[in-house]
Order: sequence, then structure tokens, then C-alpha cells
Amino acid sequence: MSEDTRILGIETSCDETAAAVVENGRHIVSSIVASQASMHAQYGGVFPEMASRAHIETIYQVISNTLSQAHVGLEAVDAIAVTRGPGLAGSLVVGMNMAKGLALGSGLPLLGINHLEAHLYSIWLVEDEQEPSFPLLGLIVSGGHTELVLMRDHLTYQRLGGTLDDAAGEAFDKVARLLGLGFPGGPAIQEAAEKGDPESFKFPRAWLEGTWNFSFSGLKTAVLREVRERQPELEAGVEAPRPGLPIANLAAAFQAAVVDVLVGKTLAAAETFEAKEILFAGGVSANKPLREAFQSQAKIPVRMPPLELCTDNAAMIAAVGHRRFLAGQRDALDIDVLPTWPITG
Ligand code: KG4
Ligand code: ZN
Repeated sequence: MSEDTRILGIETSCDETAAAVVENGRHIVSSIVASQASMHAQYGGVFPEMASRAHIETIYQVISNTLSQAHVGLEAVDAIAVTRGPGLAGSLVVGMNMAKGLALGSGLPLLGINHLEAHLYSIWLVEDEQEPSFPLLGLIVSGGHTELVLMRDHLTYQRLGGTLDDAAGEAFDKVARLLGLGFPGGPAIQEAAEKGDPESFKFPRAWLEGTWNFSFSGLKTAVLREVRERQPELEAGVEAPRPGLPIANLAAAFQAAVVDVLVGKTLAAAETFEAKEILFAGGVSANKPLREAFQSQAKIPVRMPPLELCTDNAAMIAAVGHRRFLAGQRDALDIDVLPTWPITG
């Protein structure tokens, strides 16, 4: 079989409606991401029912614009790859049903893709760099997940550990809300932290020695305690200006604690499992101090996607679709979405 593929990717697991056309798992021909972030911002987080409704309203246009930007019709595509999970059930269903409809109408194969695996494959989309060499140590940090995985080959994952409570991105989002910084919290904390001193507060680092797991809830509570001490009337979800609250310092010290643990544990795991390279992906991998800490502390190459591929997109779904199509995966048209699908295989 020829190794040349052109895959249509579709992603609707959270609050981005996205479609992309990717060739050979590495070259993005077109990629569109319609973000709902501004709609959810007023609620301080993703509102699941509104997310699925917004996906329904935009998905057809997003796919059709992606195909026309790529100057291809479905007859020039080899397969349709769609996020099957993990994610919000109602949102996943919208992408899945659209993919099934297109597959049925065109006769193209349908491939259900794991969203976490796809974050790792966003690194293969940096086509001017050589492909990473195995074994690889992958850190996936997003709004819903913090996962440390060992990849000995393509599509082969050994999950080493993950968060026991909040995901790293979730911690950023919750602390941002607490500080009145808005949603999504990651970029807001990063910006506020630029003017702060990371040493100003000594926040706890949960090392969880002897495991490859993470925990961020103690850190979140420590920030909450500092805020409550200064602002006893604080109620969850209140978004008021907070005069007198050392927002920049709290943001900087919180961010420094997250960076220390993520970088420290990942580098230790890479050494233990003799990884040749580190892959660092998912929405939180857009964080500048985290990227810098990895680059300056790692003794082996650290690969991370460019900023636009850190957060959710469909090119990464198509990148996995390429690998899975060549490996012979063909899914039946009655597959269900898997909202809590771990990364395995
Ligand atoms: O991968 P992603 O787009 O969606 C999920 O699959 O969850 O990740 C979204 C998460 C959010 O929690 C957001 O606050 C975080 O990524 N994020 C960041 C940054 N940009 C996005 N966290 C820290 N620093 C950033 N610059
Ligand atoms: Zn994601």
C-alpha cells in the first residue's frame, strides 16, 4: 500500500469546533479552529450544553471551509478521522455523527481517534524537524488531563501516571477564577505572572515520590487560603476587582510551583526509562515559563508543538488518523463516543 495519505480530521471534544486536511501525517494543507472560548468566558468555564449546541451550529461550515481551503473534495481524501474521546459526551457526539454521515455518504473509512494520543502527534506536524526517535517520554497537559506516557513505538503507550485530582490546566483555570482573571485561565495567569515574583509565596509542590502521579489540589487550596486571608468575604465564582490582592505575585508563585513539578517529574521519568526525547503537548504546553524551563533543564531534546497546535485542533487528529489508517484501522459506522477513554495500546 502506498504510504501517501490525505486525511480529513474532525475535533469537537471540548469547546473548539475544528477540521483539518493533513497529508502523510505531517503536512497541514488546511486547518480551521472555531473557538467558543469567548462564549464560555461569561460562565468562567465550559458550559457543556452550550458547547454541543455551538458545535452543531458551526461544524458543517468549518468542515466545508477546510475542504475548500485545501482545494479538495471528499473524493480526494483517504479517510475521515474523528475524536472519539475523551471529552464532553454531548460535544463528542456532534463530531462523531458528522463524521459518520460523511463516511456513509462518501464510502470513506471512519477512524475514531483518542484525543490524548492526538496531542502527542501534534509534534509530528512540525514538518521541518526530523521525526522524534523512540523511546519517547510524553507529557500531555490539558484542561482535563495530566498524563505521563512512555512511547516505545508509534501508537504504543505505557501510561506511567497522571493527576490524582485536578489536571494542570484545570488548576490554572480554577486559580485564575479565584484571582478574578477570567477564562481560559492559563494565558491569563501567564500574563499576570509576568509582573510578579515567583518567590513571593512558598506554595507546596506535591512530589508524590515513588509514583509518576501528580496532584494539584493542595496547591490550589494554598492559593485559596492566601486569598481568603486577605479577602474573607470571597465567594466562589465571584468576579470582582480585588484591590489590594497581590495578584501578580500569587499568579507567579502558583505558576512556578506547577512548572517545578511538571518539569521535575518528567525529566526524572525520562531518565528512569532512558527516553531519547521528550514530547510535551496539550493546551498547557503553550505556557512560556514551562517551555523555557523544559528547554533549559533537559539534557535530551524536548519537542513541543508551536503555540497554535498546543491547544485543541483537528490537524493532530488527522496526524494520528494517518498512522492508524496505515496500520489498518477501520471502524464500524456504529461506534460510540468514549468520554473517559484512557490512553492505552
Ligand atoms: O488541550 P486544550 O486546548 O483542551 C483540552 O483538551 O482540555 O487545553 C486547554 C487548557 C486550559 O485549561 C487552558 O487554561 C490551558 O490549556 N492553557 C494554558 C495556556 N494556554 C492554554 N495553561 C497555561 N499557560 C498557557 N499559556
Ligand atoms: Zn486537548
